[in-house]
Amino acid sequence: MKKVGVIGAGVMGVGVAQNLAQSGFNVRLVDVNEDILAHAKRDIYNNARMHQFYTRGKESFDPDEVLSRIESNLHIDVLCDCDFVIENVTEKWDVKKEIYPALDKICPESAVFAVNTSCMSITKIGALTRRPDRILGIHFMNPVPLKSTVEAIRGAYTSQETIDYAADILSGMGKKYILVNDMPGFVSNRVLMLTINEAIWTVQDQVALPEDVDRIFKECFGHTSGPLETGDLIGLDTILHSLEVLYESYQDPKFRACPLLRQMVSAGKCGRKTGQGFYQY
Ligand code: NAI
Repeated sequence: MKKVGVIGAGVMGVGVAQNLAQSGFNVRLVDVNEDILAHAKRDIYNNARMHQFYTRGKESFDPDEVLSRIESNLHIDVLCDCDFVIENVTEKWDVKKEIYPALDKICPESAVFAVNTSCMSITKIGALTRRPDRILGIHFMNPVPLKSTVEAIRGAYTSQETIDYAADILSGMGKKYILVNDMPGFVSNRVLMLTINEAIWTVQDQVALPEDVDRIFKECFGHTSGPLETGDLIGLDTILHSLEVLYESYQDPKFRACPLLRQMVSAGKCGRKTGQGFYQY
């Protein structure tokens, strides 16, 4: 079985590591924060235990076996023998840009890097390394183990071999992919971030309460989740960082973040992960 490195053990890193381990891959999980790594292991154990419930009995896993396939570490050097690395660190250029030159030095020349990002340019990230042909974007959906399809992104220099290699790993994880070209936000978040941000403006402008904004999407449009619930699930800090990336990338005022979003993030109300966002958890 291939060894896969996972960097970042937040909302997405935990889901990616769990999904890989459930699919039989050996995983090296890296984060800079020891508490987050300890938390990640607890979450993966509990999520694997509950997977049968979430999939209505279709799939079940031994949580101890899943955990036994994941080695966690504070140092990126442990990824030196990984064939494939999925990076899931904070959606901030200053954070992501430090990772890739380091990975490029540490990992085998043949290793492929997948950027799990909401909005960042894969081409710009590829340019930080000597292997832009072996870098692609994989925009996983949240919660990762329960979502069947990802948005895969071909950077300007991503080779077909890299796409095929990643497709194999994704297939091993039980996932399909939809391939798109590289532009900040790709398809999904170029549209979704605007929707969530505009929904927040309607709350700020007192057009409606959060519950009613979401009910309109669910009851009138038949969506399974409203935009504010989706924002809470993704993490409002990640929404803000994504809007900032889009604003910066396109220099277009339509991506300006709503002041209420900024205020909530400053107050630590980031959604599910902090227990409070537009709703309480
Ligand atoms: P998060 O904020 O929950 O987790 C980020 C993790 O990265 C934290 O645990 C942090 O300690 C770690 N980190 C920061 N710097 C690091 C470094 N130098 N080395 C190792 N670890 C480091 O963020 P989340 O939500 O997991 O997002 C991760 C990435 O996935 C972002 O780029 C985001 O845009 C993208 N994404 C998020 C989705 C979501 O629903 N939250 C959906 C799809 C993509």
